[in-house]
Amino acid sequence: MAHKLHIKTYGCQMNVYDSARMADVLAPLGFVPVDEPDAADMVILNTCHIREKAAEKVYSELGRLNRLKAARRRDGDRLILAVAGCVAQAEGAEMVRRAPYVDMVFGPQTYHRLPEMVARAARAGAVVLDTDFPEDSKFDRLPAPAAAGPTAFLTVQEGCDRFCTFCVVPYTRGAEVSRPAADVLDEARRLVAQGVREITLLGQNVNSYHGAAADGTAWSLARLIEGLAALPGLERIRYTTSHPADVTDDLIAAHRHVPHLMPYLHLPVQSGSDRVLTAMNRRHGADDYRRLVERLRAARPDLALSSDFIVGFPGETDDDFADTLALVEDVGFAQAYSFKFSARPGTPAAAMDGQVPEPEKQQRLAVLQDRLQRQQAAFNQTCVGRVMPVLLDGRGRRSGQLVGRSPYMQAVHVEAPDDVLGTVAPLRIVAAHANSLAAEAAIEDTVPARACA
Ligand code: SAH
Ligand code: SF4
Ligand code: F3S
Repeated sequence: MAHKLHIKTYGCQMNVYDSARMADVLAPLGFVPVDEPDAADMVILNTCHIREKAAEKVYSELGRLNRLKAARRRDGDRLILAVAGCVAQAEGAEMVRRAPYVDMVFGPQTYHRLPEMVARAARAGAVVLDTDFPEDSKFDRLPAPAAAGPTAFLTVQEGCDRFCTFCVVPYTRGAEVSRPAADVLDEARRLVAQGVREITLLGQNVNSYHGAAADGTAWSLARLIEGLAALPGLERIRYTTSHPADVTDDLIAAHRHVPHLMPYLHLPVQSGSDRVLTAMNRRHGADDYRRLVERLRAARPDLALSSDFIVGFPGETDDDFADTLALVEDVGFAQAYSFKFSARPGTPAAAMDGQVPEPEKQQRLAVLQDRLQRQQAAFNQTCVGRVMPVLLDGRGRRSGQLVGRSPYMQAVHVEAPDDVLGTVAPLRIVAAHANSLAAEAAIEDTVPARACA
């Protein structure tokens, strides 16, 4: 009998990938994905612990779902409530105490055990709790992923050994592990066979990738990218997230000679102050970042950059913040995310002296976001009039409208027939909005395959 499964995903792209893998592993048990929780037999919240707000959202959602569960029980039905992801990993038994009505709480490294966990939850009244870091890799036991459209995520590396002092990821995802190169190539081949044209390689620190290869060596991320570029049918490759201190010479060179590699890089810097970067344990200075960007741009002159920033890190002064603004001016970002520092339980920064008061964080965030938004708008404006190859991967809100992604990850809207869906089409950008571009089909057919004309 078919069971309805609703998965709600919070957090980063890896959680998006993981949610799809959970659906894959539950499909043989008869679970069919549904968009709304109301009719579901099982709801999985795939959670994020990165900032307090993200983690707290989970509890308000759980409260709502508990009411749904009670209503279903009155009708004689059962709703299985499950919590996966980084909050489940971080809180484990604590979550069971705080929300005793949940049926399952399990961490990111246990997803291959889901069929067995579901069977236990269906039988017993007791909560199923699994926050192990198992010896066997989930990747060896999860079924091959099913593609959903022309773009796909592919996790190549998981966990982190860098221990930035503000960050929970090394605790929630565990130690850094790279998947063997052959497994990654296999998964990519299967995705391409299903029509995937663009793959984004995922890892918490993806450029530390060192996957075992058949010849007994370890492949770097650059070598892996070269291997993927050789797959017929795969047109575009991206990777995220990178740590500036782990950008190697061969990766910079790949940006020069692998045309599949999109000219857009998310390279979080967090701060422009050396003092703050040291306290964050980032292991690079602001000028190291500037030099790195120069080298990347020398390799790929049309490279656009995206970044992450934290304002109000403990001890951050007005001068430190001014250094961040100076770095923003110097580099020029096409897009960026910025956050107020959130003290996370168990991380060194949470216990540091000099916690910055909330109003100051708020004010710095507003100033920084204003600068970043202006840079984004200016960058989008430079695209007007250019012809870009756009991977059309969905339908727009209006009928006859398709949406896609430019090489620089901008959303692009265009009036176009359905038969170009799933292809890379040359489009002339005619207008720039705050968060998207409008385009028309280009007359020229001499557009370069992978970058801006
Ligand atoms: N692996 C990525 C970061 C993943 S978390 C990297 O190394 O860059 C995504 C972003 O969330 C981080 O880059 C950081 O800017 C932000 N972040 C992480 N912990 C945070 C905290 N405690 N408070 C505020 N922002 C945080
Ligand atoms: Fe967190 Fe990224 Fe630092 Fe790892 S490198 S600890 S994931 S911010
Ligand atoms: Fe959040 Fe975990 Fe990703 S904490 S950002 S879901 S690795």
